[in-house]
Amino acid sequence: MMGTEHPDRATPSAEREFLQDCLRGLDQRPRGLSPKYFYDARGSRLFERICALPEYYLTRTEVDIMRRHAPEMGRIIGPGALVVEPGSGSGVKIRLLLDALPAPAGYVPVEISPEPLEASVQALERDYPSLDILPVCADFTRPFGIPEGRRPVRRRLAYFPGSTLGNFPPERARELLQRLRLIAGEDGAVLLGVDLEKDPDILVPAYDDAQGVTAAFNRNVLYRMQRELGARLSPEDFAHRAIWNGAEGRMEMHLVSTGHQRIDLGGRCFRFAPGEPIVTEYSYKYTPERLETLASRAGLTTVARWTDPRGWFSVQLLRAG
Ligand code: AVJ
Repeated sequence: MMGTEHPDRATPSAEREFLQDCLRGLDQRPRGLSPKYFYDARGSRLFERICALPEYYLTRTEVDIMRRHAPEMGRIIGPGALVVEPGSGSGVKIRLLLDALPAPAGYVPVEISPEPLEASVQALERDYPSLDILPVCADFTRPFGIPEGRRPVRRRLAYFPGSTLGNFPPERARELLQRLRLIAGEDGAVLLGVDLEKDPDILVPAYDDAQGVTAAFNRNVLYRMQRELGARLSPEDFAHRAIWNGAEGRMEMHLVSTGHQRIDLGGRCFRFAPGEPIVTEYSYKYTPERLETLASRAGLTTVARWTDPRGWFSVQLLRAG
């Protein structure tokens, strides 16, 4: 299945791509690094810790929605579903979904990093011995093949929880939803979890926690550059910053240079002035109306929608058409 000898080491082509993305991003103004590079083994562990933070309401709220409403989701989706999950992560939510689905045809986790993928597959195999698990190690923002399982597939379900959609600006988000629609196929469905717009006094601490776990998560991309690309830089001389951008409807995470410094990478030298930021993540927050508009632009229609009592997070089932 997957190589286990160097779980932290990317394949040469993945490493080249990481380097190219860093060089391109550091040349832009504002400078930027893609949030997809947060998630190596260490970053995935830090993200798990974020999910358990008192300030980070997203995971808890979505899990709560799944606990309450997965049975109804399972009834609507019906038997024989092949569940495809791009960016699969640790899998508390997928368990709630799998428990509620009548006779699923299989589960296809799609992950960019081999180690977290392997770990989640092993854990699921243990707890769901009769489930057909078909892992794919791929960047889900690019086309990838869906493996064939042993059981007949009645319909495909693209499961995209965790408000991962929020990482993508509107146009890319539309493309991604279109891709999810294609994964689902004609009679399939998309089950999508998104974070909703709310008071910045709730939002900002969720991305700037008191324990500094999010700060460490943010800097992890710099540590990866050091470790995997041999970059010369000092990660601790970049400060974590989280801001609410109301005009764009998004949270932003930055790494702000605390002084004059340079990053040496791939034979290039990037000079930073004090206060100069690297944008590392956008996390768009939707209103139900904006989400509906986006979905329809991607050729998707809402079948059902579930939210928590405070209206902080939303899970919706969408179908093509
Ligand atoms: C995994 C993209 C949903 O935007 O809330 C958590 C990642 N970044 N804390 C988010 C994240 C900082 C998270 N998503």
